[in-house]
Amino acid sequence: MIIVVANQKGGVGKTTTAVTLAHGLAIQGRDTLLLDLDPQGQCASALGLVQEPGVFNLLVGGQTLADVTRTTGRPRLALIPGNKRTATAQVVLNAEGFELDTIRQVLRPALRGGLELVIIDTAPSVGGLQEAALFAADLVIIPTAVDYLATEGVVKVMQTLDTLAARQGWQGSVLGILPTFYDNVTRESQQTLEDLKRTFGAELILPPVHRATVLRECGAEGKTIWEKAADSRSAKEYADLVWRVADVTP
Ligand SMILES: Nc1ncnc2c1ncn2[C@@H]1O[C@H](COP(=O)(O)OP(=O)(O)O)[C@@H](O)[C@H]1O
Ligand SMILES: [Mg+2]
Repeated sequence: MIIVVANQKGGVGKTTTAVTLAHGLAIQGRDTLLLDLDPQGQCASALGLVQEPGVFNLLVGGQTLADVTRTTGRPRLALIPGNKRTATAQVVLNAEGFELDTIRQVLRPALRGGLELVIIDTAPSVGGLQEAALFAADLVIIPTAVDYLATEGVVKVMQTLDTLAARQGWQGSVLGILPTFYDNVTRESQQTLEDLKRTFGAELILPPVHRATVLRECGAEGKTIWEKAADSRSAKEYADLVWRVADVTP
């Protein structure tokens, strides 16, 4: 099962969600691989690990999944790190004529070999790699900060998915839209949540994750919320997401 975390906007909680979900599923006993397709390489940093050109080496450097997969010091959680060379990989792939099923192809041996779950974090842009990631997805999660531009970012992902389904036979589904940076005292947060429900249907809107300093601290310290503050509200909110994913993944 491949789960992709995507939104063409930056700073909406994609990396936080991908890392937290991946570690949460690993804690639940699932063999999980986190794949960082963003040239910012922040999955490694968020886990307290060094950035490496893993994605570059895998996609265009001739290395195998085994070569580029790193342990994370956390049971059942592995990482394929990325760094700025991921952007170079994208340029090389574009020049060679990009195959939409690049990501699916590259992960197939691992999934066949018994790996249960792959969580993919993506860059805040539209490009070959993001599309290839979405095309590989069995399940898509779309985090969005609840500001006034939220709907716009989500619409773009939805449009990409519609196109992939209509023209390329994509058969995955959207688990949901995850409102992040939620603040129940601001009108903007509440208004945006209402807008999202009206635009995409209330059943597609997941319970929001509140804005919380502890999540920012996690990223900065290289710890997941399960390590830093397992009893926090943020941990409870992300635990809900972990359960939802666990529920729909065999
Ligand atoms: N719910 C939240 N509340 C407060 N800070 C958050 C929250 N989610 C993420 N952050 C922080 O906001 C910044 C952007 O989040 P990140 O997950 O990197 O977004 P993206 O991957 O979409 O760019 C990071 O510093 C992260 O630690
Ligand atoms: Mg990110």
